[in-house]
Amino acid sequence: MSSLIKNICCIGAGYVGGPTMAVIADKCPEILVNVVDINEERINLWNSLNLDLLPIYEPGLDNLIKKRRNKNLFFSTKLEDNISKADMIFISVNTPTKKKGVGAGKASDLKWVEACARQVAKYSKGYTIVVEKSTLPVKTAEVIKTILEASQLSPDDKEKKFDVLSNPEFLAEGTAIKDLEYPDRVLIGGENKKAINSLTDIYKNWVPINKILHTNIWSSELAKITANAFLAQRISSINSIGAICEATGADVREVARAIGSDSRIGSKFLDAGPGFGGSCFKKDILNLVYLSNYFGLNEVANFWEGVVLLNKWHQHRITRLIIKKLLGTVTGKKICILGFAFKANTNDTRESASINICKDLLEEGAVLQIHDPKVDPKQIEVNLGKKENKKIKEIKDQNYFQLEGQWSFEKDITISSDGADAIVVLTEWDEYSKINWFAISKKMRKPSWVFDVRSIVSRTKVLEANINLWKIGDGTNN
Ligand code: UDX
Ligand code: ADP
Repeated sequence: MSSLIKNICCIGAGYVGGPTMAVIADKCPEILVNVVDINEERINLWNSLNLDLLPIYEPGLDNLIKKRRNKNLFFSTKLEDNISKADMIFISVNTPTKKKGVGAGKASDLKWVEACARQVAKYSKGYTIVVEKSTLPVKTAEVIKTILEASQLSPDDKEKKFDVLSNPEFLAEGTAIKDLEYPDRVLIGGENKKAINSLTDIYKNWVPINKILHTNIWSSELAKITANAFLAQRISSINSIGAICEATGADVREVARAIGSDSRIGSKFLDAGPGFGGSCFKKDILNLVYLSNYFGLNEVANFWEGVVLLNKWHQHRITRLIIKKLLGTVTGKKICILGFAFKANTNDTRESASINICKDLLEEGAVLQIHDPKVDPKQIEVNLGKKENKKIKEIKDQNYFQLEGQWSFEKDITISSDGADAIVVLTEWDEYSKINWFAISKKMRKPSWVFDVRSIVSRTKVLEANINLWKIGDGTNN
């Protein structure tokens, strides 16, 4: 299928921009795709010869990069040049929650999106289709349009014409390439039919036409936030039921199976865990809360805010529970944390439940040895706001009291369990379900505990190894 679009520029080489453009470049070899970013270090990593150094870990991404990079897929910091050559520009920059000012803690900070729109307004030539790809609050397209239209008023820019489309991403980390190659749907919101068709033609190269939905621009923006709000709501719902299961002797997995077989409810996204993380869920719900309050819909705002509040409460609940099981105190006790990424198969730690749980435990004076197969210890340092203390590894005879509230990274799970009172499984990495608990048990101090917050370890194997087990949402044995 040939498309009118020959040259794409994507601004933002992050979790969204990188994988999305790699898939477009692969599926549309006749289109030249330039991914640009202001972060030179990130761009250098995208260009590294050693594919293990790509800035993002996603199964299948390295293969696509190997196949298309420097053929029709290029990564650079040359914003001006690539914007001016593009027929279609994707905006894939980050939109974190505002830290100060109006809407602080809820509204998204649009300063990078605005900066992008200004760059597009300045450097683009002729007719350009601008596509919002970042998750954005409803009506952001209007901000982009206002900036672009203002540039057309200048007498030097008479040739410039723009159309703005909303094309939200629904990719989940860890399965980004699969989600992009076989999407449940592609959503394109806009006003101009020709622009919508141009983007549709690109997706038609690999997505069945009945899965490409056209809506108005605001519906598209709102649908993205709503999808994430509904998914996050399911997780808070199941975690709230998990707490009831623990209190009443029920098992949340059995409850999930029973309700999930109702086809109206469905079985996906019903795994109790440490609470949702990731860059989207909390941010998007808070956007919805802000939007609802803005329009005076306070009950609607409170309803959605409850999803985030429950998630936060749930994470503190887990820490309190660990303390209770460890005889009322964790001060000077060594605890191994298995998993720091917000879910398996990603190195992303944004909003990871591990951050809050580790912070709580450190605050209580625990000594943590943290393991994660993909997360860099430097990232953990940033997230915990505390430097790693490698002296923990030298401590003999359980003398951890001298290092209360400190943490270190350990790649070997058996080494990290040496002298530990507890192991807390926080991310569902496959390797954690295959641990040899007999070997670990010999190293741990007694009574020893495994807190399985992802419900992935074998109860029998842990108990046979003479370790106590607490499993999330399991009231039958906890
Ligand atoms: C999410 C959406 O799924 C995706 O469509 C959107 O574009 C971006 O946000 P992502 O953040 O990558 O994707 O992760 P997702 O797989 O949705 O998981 C989010 C969080 O929920 C993770 O912390 C995960 O561990 C947790 N989760 C998910 C559960 O606790 N239980 C579940 O059953 C499912
Ligand atoms: P996301 O998950 O939305 O992709 P990331 O933080 O992973 O978010 O990536 C966003 C990228 O956008 C970052 O690499 C950042 O450097 C880049 N970026 C932000 N503002 C601009 C800008 N004005 N021009 C170019 N790149 C930008």
